[in-house]
Amino acid sequence: MTFAAERPTGTKREIYRELGLQARGLFEGERDAIANAANLAALIFGGLDDLNWAGFYFLKDGQLVLGPFQGKPACVRIEMGKGVCGTAAAKRETLIVADVHEFPGHIACDVASNSEIVVPLIRDGRVIGVLDIDSPTRGRFDGEDRVGLESLAALWLAASAP
Ligand code: SME
Repeated sequence: MTFAAERPTGTKREIYRELGLQARGLFEGERDAIANAANLAALIFGGLDDLNWAGFYFLKDGQLVLGPFQGKPACVRIEMGKGVCGTAAAKRETLIVADVHEFPGHIACDVASNSEIVVPLIRDGRVIGVLDIDSPTRGRFDGEDRVGLESLAALWLAASAP
């Protein structure tokens, strides 16, 4: 297996297309959910600019529990409905927060984070976790990031065993 050494370039759409191709390559022949999550976190963190954290939380016994990630150590457990992650999971929809300091109940894991996007992971109608991406830049994430990250999350869901 070979890995791209350089960050993809181009428009956001082109970058997400390239990351999708690389994710497919990384997941090929591998069904282990944790291994695939670890590689996707690394792919996103290395492939998108201006991030300070990228990773997963998985729903266990009603709490979101930290999974594979890239970035600084983070809070381990998040209650459903709490913070950006818990709110996205409870609402079952992607949340884009342009300024986390204005989000009531935001959980500050890394003081460098100023904006955030959280994509819920939904399998067979149930939330099984979230994909959480943080940036030091306010307003870093837009609708194209939503489409791109939702499609990377969908690739992970399709590739990985429950
Ligand atoms: N900020 C998140 C917590 C997770 S860290 O960003 C990694 C939240 O409010 O849910």
